[in-house]
Amino acid sequence: MQARFIINNEVIERDIDPDMTLQKFLRKEGYYSVKCGCETSNCGACTVLLDGKPVLSCSTLAARTAGHQIETLEGLQKEAEEIGAYVADEGADQCGFCNPGYIITMIALFRQNEDPDDQTIREWLAGNLCRCTGYEGQIRGFIKYRDARRAG
Ligand code: FES
Ligand code: FES
Repeated sequence: MQARFIINNEVIERDIDPDMTLQKFLRKEGYYSVKCGCETSNCGACTVLLDGKPVLSCSTLAARTAGHQIETLEGLQKEAEEIGAYVADEGADQCGFCNPGYIITMIALFRQNEDPDDQTIREWLAGNLCRCTGYEGQIRGFIKYRDARRAG
């Protein structure tokens, strides 16, 4: 089927299989920040923003996203680098495979809530798994990012 996609504000037309997932489609198009950790909606590594909301691209049909705003970290470099630096400073950046999913989820949270409390940050990250760390480093990094924003 022929469909029109808006990815990071760029409009493209593609002929796609109706059963292709958004994750496979985005990686085929070169958006390699979109990872595949499980393909079963369990790890959060494939998270992208769809009309500003985080979704698991491994369980979203590409065809259903036609005409909607899709965002990946490739289009969010400035915010990603800023937030990612706090995570790295906490030593939570090990293999890095989970980072894109974490960071894009946090970008969505901070867009929606400029000053989330610690519990809200933890709740938003409940669907993001990391096989290398104990999670606390990432959480500390995001809390420090929030604190730096508070301090202006
Ligand atoms: S690859 Fe989508 S949730 Fe793991
Ligand atoms: S740092 Fe390796 S999976 Fe999270």
